[in-house]
Amino acid sequence: MATALIILGAGMGTRMNSDLPKVLHEIAGAPLLVHAMKSGAALAPAKTIVVAGHGADLVEKAARAHDPDVTVAVQTEQLGTAHAVGQAREALAGFEGDALVLYGDTPFIRPQTLAAMHAARLTDDIVVLGFDAAQPGRYGRLIMKDDQLDRIVEFKDATDKERGVTLCNSGVIAGDCSVLFDLIANVGNDNAAGEYYLTDIIGIARERGLSATVVTCDESETLGVNSRAELCNAEALFQARARAAALADGVTLSAPETVFFAHDTVIGRDTVIEPNVVFGAGVTVETGATIRAFSHLEGCHVSRGAIVGPYARLRPGAELAENVKVGNFVEVKNAQVAEGAKINHLSYIGDASIGAGSNIGAGTITCNYDGVFKHKTTIGADVFIGSNTMLVAPVTVGDAAMTGSGSVVTKDVPAGDLAVARAKQENKAGFALRLFEKRKARKAKGS
Ligand code: UD1
Ligand code: CA
Repeated sequence: MATALIILGAGMGTRMNSDLPKVLHEIAGAPLLVHAMKSGAALAPAKTIVVAGHGADLVEKAARAHDPDVTVAVQTEQLGTAHAVGQAREALAGFEGDALVLYGDTPFIRPQTLAAMHAARLTDDIVVLGFDAAQPGRYGRLIMKDDQLDRIVEFKDATDKERGVTLCNSGVIAGDCSVLFDLIANVGNDNAAGEYYLTDIIGIARERGLSATVVTCDESETLGVNSRAELCNAEALFQARARAAALADGVTLSAPETVFFAHDTVIGRDTVIEPNVVFGAGVTVETGATIRAFSHLEGCHVSRGAIVGPYARLRPGAELAENVKVGNFVEVKNAQVAEGAKINHLSYIGDASIGAGSNIGAGTITCNYDGVFKHKTTIGADVFIGSNTMLVAPVTVGDAAMTGSGSVVTKDVPAGDLAVARAKQENKAGFALRLFEKRKARKAKGS
């Protein structure tokens, strides 16, 4: 059974107090919307429709960046959740299979939960994801009758007795696509909010003799984000789960509460992560690496046995091969560092490649930017770059070559050569002693 995903994200999100559409606020380096898309991916959807409204252009861009095949349907006026789903009708014309409705501001639905809904569809026409709420608040209530879901009543429209029900609507609904659109077409807006409620389709379906059932999940999965406070709570929840998952996967974290992961961080077994490490998006670390304290990594790959930090920064395109060492106050960007190479102290390596076994001295800078263009620095294998070398790119240093400390290297260095590019040293005999004496005498006179 093919599945189409419909993700609702047209709402303004007034309580975020933001210029950015709510679904583009980020958790663990990815927009809320992308978290919802990743949840939905568990069902291998044949089509994904994102319903956007406020900031639709930005929402479309973010959705496409994650999945180029996504269709964005624009809901110009937010008339309710049923109306929002209705905007996907055109994009799904002729689609045969199920539709699953998710909310773009609900990032934590687990794949297993969607799989359970999918399975429940084998026996029932409509499947709603519900949860037993500790504090049901303003959620819609699921009203059961003889083991079937009879209808959903919104808080605003509920009687006191109905408000006493703790089984709540998460908003996630699955059913045959054409059946859903048919039911939606019959939803009116004669209710407390004057909106077209998606939840009304249950009552309509039951009147038509269709069956409806509830799959339940833990309340934490259905957590939605409506304010900055909820956003940071959601971030905390994500991080707590990511840390627990890393520990379970065999990663050593000595102070897990100080390590921050991105939505897509991959860390291999037996890797050690010291305190206060931040992973931005797009990081993979192989097994047995060490990420030392206060390091920041994004868009990079760290191979087996490599040691990074303390206080290192790996930026997008940094690729460290096995047993590479990147030490304190070193920044690496868009650079391939081959096996066993060392950049131990105070360096900037950008737009570069470094061959196996090379040693980059303290304070080395690849001068990659000329104010307009970026240029590449190529360093061969077993090279020794003396401390405080400026490598003015484009420049190549051949295998087993050396540069003298403090050199400003502007020309290629052939393999095996030593480049010295600095002023020659001159020693003036006894000069320092005489200068010291003069100055001390002046100080003694008080001038
Ligand atoms: C909805 C459900 C409620 C459920 C709750 C769970 C309805 C009528 N009510 O209420 O039963 O307990 O979610 O969180 O469905 N949206 C649009 N266009 C619209 C309206 C909404 O795209 O015209 C999107 C919003 O951006 C949001 C989602 O739909 O992502 C839910 O809308 P919201 O207004 O927050 O619904 P609730 O009142 O919370
Ligand atoms: Ca809501």
